[in-house]
Amino acid sequence: MSGVATGRSPYTPGRATATIVGRASELDRARKEMSFIAAGAPSLRPQFFLGPRGVGKTSVLMALQETAEEMNFVTAWVQAGEADLVVQLAEALSPADGGPAPVNRGARASSGPGRSRSRTVKDLFVSAARAATGAGAAGVIVFVDDVHHADAEGLAAFATAVQLIQSEHPDLPLGIFCAGLSCALDVVTEVAPYAERFQYDEIAYLDDAHARDVLLQPAARWNVGWSDDALDEAVQVCGGFPPFLHLLGEEVWTAATCAGGATITRDDVQAGRVAFDAARHDFFRACWSEASDDERDMLGALAMALAVSGEPWVRVRDLAANLSTATTALGVTRQRLIDKGLVESPARGCLAFTLPGFAEFVHGVEGDL
Ligand SMILES: Nc1ncnc2c1ncn2[C@@H]1O[C@H](COP(=O)(O)OP(=O)(O)OP(=O)(O)O)[C@@H](O)[C@H]1O
Ligand SMILES: [Mg+2]
Repeated sequence: MSGVATGRSPYTPGRATATIVGRASELDRARKEMSFIAAGAPSLRPQFFLGPRGVGKTSVLMALQETAEEMNFVTAWVQAGEADLVVQLAEALSPADGGPAPVNRGARASSGPGRSRSRTVKDLFVSAARAATGAGAAGVIVFVDDVHHADAEGLAAFATAVQLIQSEHPDLPLGIFCAGLSCALDVVTEVAPYAERFQYDEIAYLDDAHARDVLLQPAARWNVGWSDDALDEAVQVCGGFPPFLHLLGEEVWTAATCAGGATITRDDVQAGRVAFDAARHDFFRACWSEASDDERDMLGALAMALAVSGEPWVRVRDLAANLSTATTALGVTRQRLIDKGLVESPARGCLAFTLPGFAEFVHGVEGDL
């Protein structure tokens, strides 16, 4: 590196980033929806951002919360799973002055049949939206993160409340955005018969161009650039997995800042990789420790099949044959591994590892057993 020395890393491993890239179409669509609501033409259609672990779902919701506040909406944020969803919604939709919302007590007390709980949620939404417009705001936008953790009963009440609003209060200035693992789709459709009317958006791994932007844009704020070969190497090491890109970015920055400079080079990437590789190894080890026996068997078989074939993916039916089981028997394990962000299905009936380096890790671990 050569040029000016810089201070703290602009990368944010494990934290929210100020620079979110590659999600323009999802964000634009959501912003349009908020503009319709603000203009008095709402069409309540909850939007779900679904994708594997770490891919950037919360980041999308956080960016939308910022937009909603800029558009003069009152916002409410629920981290699903920390308590009963209905209670969480009641708390999140309470007036900002700390006084109890008129229907909160009802929400807390309501342990009765699903219908009354859904009416409770509907009343919560209606009174919050009316209170917001009464105070001069554009309406209310509700965010529910990690929706796959929500209790089934609360989720059913939530979904039915949406349906009640669609039929009883179609002009209510209310928007709902949720995020969660892809398995949330099964959870929601199982409990809510109207869930097919919701909008689902897949949040995918970043492509190479956007992965490069995750590295380039924070550095650019400090007037620091990356050479092309440094970027090529970094993207090859991290793939399109944002947490790895931030982690490597930070380690490279730290290594490069020691020398001080304005362009990060391939040598800096190699220097930063020492600490990155150790952290990535710890991450893989944690994934492996959390994996069930079935998941480990599938990961091991996948690593082996890829090594033998030299291809980037394998057919699930070949994997099933290697594991002496039926393809259908692998479905649940496969979906769990997809949700964990460890494997993906690049084409129907096929399976591949998602994170660069994980196949080699699995090989190493299997060799140690
Ligand atoms: N599009 C993006 N551009 C830049 N950085 C991103 C992007 N998406 C995610 N990140 C970064 O990657 C990390 C993980 O992001 P985030 O927490 O949003 O993922 P998630 O899908 O919600 O994860 P989890 O499944 O664990 O809830 C954070 O450090 C975040 O700043
Ligand atoms: Mg998240």
